Amino acid sequence: MSVAAVTAPPAPPAHLAETVAAVLAAHAGREGALLPILHDLQAEFGYVPGESYDAIAAALRLSRAEVAGVVGFYHDFRAAPAARHVIKLCRAEACQAMGGAATQARLERALGMKLGETQGNVTLEAVYCLGLCACAPAAMVGDRLVGRLDDSAIEAIAEEVRA
Ligand code: FES
Repeated sequence: MSVAAVTAPPAPPAHLAETVAAVLAAHAGREGALLPILHDLQAEFGYVPGESYDAIAAALRLSRAEVAGVVGFYHDFRAAPAARHVIKLCRAEACQAMGGAATQARLERALGMKLGETQGNVTLEAVYCLGLCACAPAAMVGDRLVGRLDDSAIEAIAEEVRA
């Protein structure tokens, strides 16, 4: 049984207020600006800092909870920085049909962590189709696509991120 590490929330990024203000200004008056704003902030910081929610909410006349809800709803957005190694396991239909649940269990066991967790230098998260359905089950390790995730491929991934 793995125990999730309890970590303190990340310190706010440097220049957070200036960057958020610049991003909000770039999208001022734009209809449907929330998602582009969140994408820009994630591109800048690698995640959407919680400290930016109030400013976004005020600019778009939303509640903080609405902003947080959108960040939490879309899998592409991170509410915390990712680790050095990011593994994205496909959980969409073709991969599920090819044993995705068992693959997830084997990968979690090999890494000693659950999907959605960040531990040490590894983030393990879900993704919904990598365009590699013909080689399901599939994952992405950093920028590299990995298909046909059998036991040896999973062990190779675990060794790679442990190194
Ligand atoms: S469903 Fe997994 S790669 Fe398409």
